[in-house]
Amino acid sequence: MKKVLVTGALGQIGSELVRELAKRYGKENIISSDIRDDLYEKVRPYSTFAIADATNALEVERLIAKYRPDTVYHLAAILSASAEERPLMAWEINMNSLVNVLESSRVHGCSVFVPSSIGAFGPTTPKENTPQVTIQRPTSIYGVTKVAGELLCDYYHYRFGIDTRGVRFPGLISNDTLPGGGTTDYAVDIYYSAIKEGKYSSFLSADTRLDMMYMPDAINAMIKIMEADPSKMKNRNAYNITAMSITPEDIAASIKKFMPEFELTYHEDHMRQAIADSWPDSIDASAAKEEWGFSPEYDLDAMTKDMLDTISKKQK
Ligand SMILES: NC(=O)c1ccc[n+]([C@@H]2O[C@H](COP(=O)([O-])OP(=O)(O)OC[C@H]3O[C@@H](n4cnc5c(N)ncnc54)[C@H](O)[C@@H]3O)[C@@H](O)[C@H]2O)c1
Repeated sequence: MKKVLVTGALGQIGSELVRELAKRYGKENIISSDIRDDLYEKVRPYSTFAIADATNALEVERLIAKYRPDTVYHLAAILSASAEERPLMAWEINMNSLVNVLESSRVHGCSVFVPSSIGAFGPTTPKENTPQVTIQRPTSIYGVTKVAGELLCDYYHYRFGIDTRGVRFPGLISNDTLPGGGTTDYAVDIYYSAIKEGKYSSFLSADTRLDMMYMPDAINAMIKIMEADPSKMKNRNAYNITAMSITPEDIAASIKKFMPEFELTYHEDHMRQAIADSWPDSIDASAAKEEWGFSPEYDLDAMTKDMLDTISKKQK
């Protein structure tokens, strides 16, 4: 039986991951933690909740020593657009929290899942079918912390034998918790606005192509990689994963299949456009498929249908 700790558990990914982990391993085996408790009701039915600042080494150590998880999903972080507004804070949160989690996991022998991102690539990375192993010179502070995080997780594995594993997530689209300040947030907002107002103004241009994935596929991938046989994993810490490579126009076309009157317009957001332009158009996820059986279920239209159905039910 697994005992699992999730840091950053009240965020977009954590709040849905905790629910799924509880279904799988039992609520009594899940500990969720965050620096805040405003959305605590989201995880309360599925876990024991503890407030902890992941940048504080002592608080992380106390958490892990008290609950003795065998697996830690470390999700506490600052996302790309918010990171660019406060680069030093992003470095402090994204790096110090990771060091703290890795150190306590080394002491207590936990396996650790750490998400990287397509933000770990940069303008000199090949843009099409971006390989698993390639040039990584990101130009955002978020990307810098993600590359450093991938390397640090590799280091803890090779140097100390810690069972670190991870994926490079594309933009994630969900109908539950709202996104936390990323460059791909438009791909969530567009569905809420479609239901509420029948129209949306995108902050990324019509032809900005990025990888995306529906949240149920992301949650499945996170559980699958931590349950996989590690002897087959050559890349371990930063598997490219994706379900679709799409533009705002593609999402609008998909929404129009269900809501023909939907209208998409555009406005400028220089910072987020620059970040998006520095990321790949499409990444190659073949290593994840071959080494631990990654296989997303949702394509764009299946995701659009589910997003529109779920959001309209919630807003009734
Ligand atoms: N959501 C995406 O599209 C996406 C894509 C690629 C990678 N990722 C990565 O996945 C991870 C989780 O992302 P998310 O979308 O759930 O982010 P989010 O912003 O929704 O949630 C992050 C959570 O971390 C918490 N947090 C911040 N500082 C903390 C601290 N010092 N101590 C404890 N908790 C703290 C926040 O309160 C928040 O609940 C991040 O590493 C992110 O970079 C997310």
